[in-house]
Amino acid sequence: MKAVLILKNFGLNSTVCMNVNGQHYRTIWLKESDHSIIEIIDQRWLPHQFNIEQLKTVEEVAIAIKDMHIRGAGLIGATAAYGMYLASLSANGHSQYNTEIDRCATILLHTRPTAVNLSWAINQQLELLKNDELDATEKIEQSKALAIRIADEDAQACHDLGQHGLGLIADIANSKDGPVNVLTHCNAGWLAFVDHGSATAPIYAAFDNGLDIHVWVDETRPRNQGARLTAWELGQHGVKHTIIPDNAAGHVMQRDMVDIVITGTDRTTFTGDVANKIGTYQKALAAKDNNIPFYVALPSSSFDWTITDGIKEIPIEKRDGSEVHNINGLLNDKIENVRLTPADSPAVNFAFDVTPSRLVTGLITERGICEANEAAIRELFPQ
Ligand code: MRU
Repeated sequence: MKAVLILKNFGLNSTVCMNVNGQHYRTIWLKESDHSIIEIIDQRWLPHQFNIEQLKTVEEVAIAIKDMHIRGAGLIGATAAYGMYLASLSANGHSQYNTEIDRCATILLHTRPTAVNLSWAINQQLELLKNDELDATEKIEQSKALAIRIADEDAQACHDLGQHGLGLIADIANSKDGPVNVLTHCNAGWLAFVDHGSATAPIYAAFDNGLDIHVWVDETRPRNQGARLTAWELGQHGVKHTIIPDNAAGHVMQRDMVDIVITGTDRTTFTGDVANKIGTYQKALAAKDNNIPFYVALPSSSFDWTITDGIKEIPIEKRDGSEVHNINGLLNDKIENVRLTPADSPAVNFAFDVTPSRLVTGLITERGICEANEAAIRELFPQ
């Protein structure tokens, strides 16, 4: 662990994108002095502590993904890509090189099932690492370059989709007085990607362009990615926001307090069904009932081109019930974990749900905005 900062003194109104206390950070990078070490922001301790963790083995990368030191579709993909680069280092000189590479890929593939970016990134690395025309040294160099490229492209795609989404927010701003009120669920912010975020990218772009914008942040039980992470990163950037309990979203929509809903996604079928953090479906239903546009922002790495029916076919991660029973919080400057529920009550913890395409107004991608249906998606992504 390299750095631990207590964050309670951090100020608002930073005008530079994706900064922490005035310093630019990505969510993952190679250690500058030693490229065999990956560094990540360990998100388990935010918003109270800013910890940087070093990952040196594939096993450590797998734990970081599974136990959510890092999370979010784009960042899961980038981290897995860097994990496979570590595999190319550890497999070097191994008598069963391909078997060892497969073993590492399998470990990583079994970490989290829903975000399609995981297999998308690992498969690209596997193709390279099993290319018999390259020697082990070339594989290491090219695998590192591929991991860096996947991370760079994730950041670029999020930046570009933000510019497209900016148009939607600007249109609303031109049509009303007062702030544009955006509601978002979970954390599809820069912490969920390498930089910029997906749902937050249009928000940051609007803010940076001087538009008056306010964000309703769903708390997002059980792990509270909205209340902990989205609120923190919006605050770091100076964007006005208000945290609401998950069950308040319908109410604020009914009272004309929401102009647009923008969420992220962990996997979207090429037919437009959207898997996202549990509770997203309910927001989409409430938005539909109140004629509020419901947009989903995604880099194309989160499309699944192989399945047509999201509800039947997208694997939904079930996490441990302890995340429902217990909650983390700050007490006397220490992060404590306390029990909320009766000792003997069982709990179930579905991590994602699927919003059918008919409830989705549009998809905001790096190539532009399209309707959530096969024809429109294929027009933007013909290949
Ligand atoms: O379980 P997580 O935190 O990895 O879930 C991912 C999310 O934060 C959301 O589902 C998000 O809205 C989509 S992320 C790109």
